[in-house]
Amino acid sequence: MSELVRFGVSISNELLEKFDKLIKERNYTNRSEAFRDLIRQELIKKEWQEGEDIAGAITLIYDHHRKDLLNRITDIQHNFQKAIISTQHIHLDHNNCLEIVAVRGNPVEVKRLADMLTSIKGVKHGILSMSSTGESIG
Ligand code: NI
Repeated sequence: MSELVRFGVSISNELLEKFDKLIKERNYTNRSEAFRDLIRQELIKKEWQEGEDIAGAITLIYDHHRKDLLNRITDIQHNFQKAIISTQHIHLDHNNCLEIVAVRGNPVEVKRLADMLTSIKGVKHGILSMSSTGESIG
């Protein structure tokens, strides 16, 4: 772990009050951890924009009874083996399936995979959670 460094931040009272209210709502116990997370969030955004090695997850909710849908989702995943680390399928209830696709690698490829999966007709909800391999966010 790298050495901790302290530094001062000049900020208006008004903005600091808003920040404190926000981090309290998000359950942070101190400003430092909240501030570090904000920085990490920006660094992750940059990783995705600049094509660095990223990690994340694609979450899909779809109709269990649409077998064509299941085949389509599986076919697409077979074409993106390099980006997919693992897939978890959960039978949510009688009608709905939840699928979590853990991804890693090139952000352009991962976004393309997410777009293809979430845009399939019959997928009720799909979202890409953009995260990091952890190596470049300290
Ligand atoms: Ni299912």
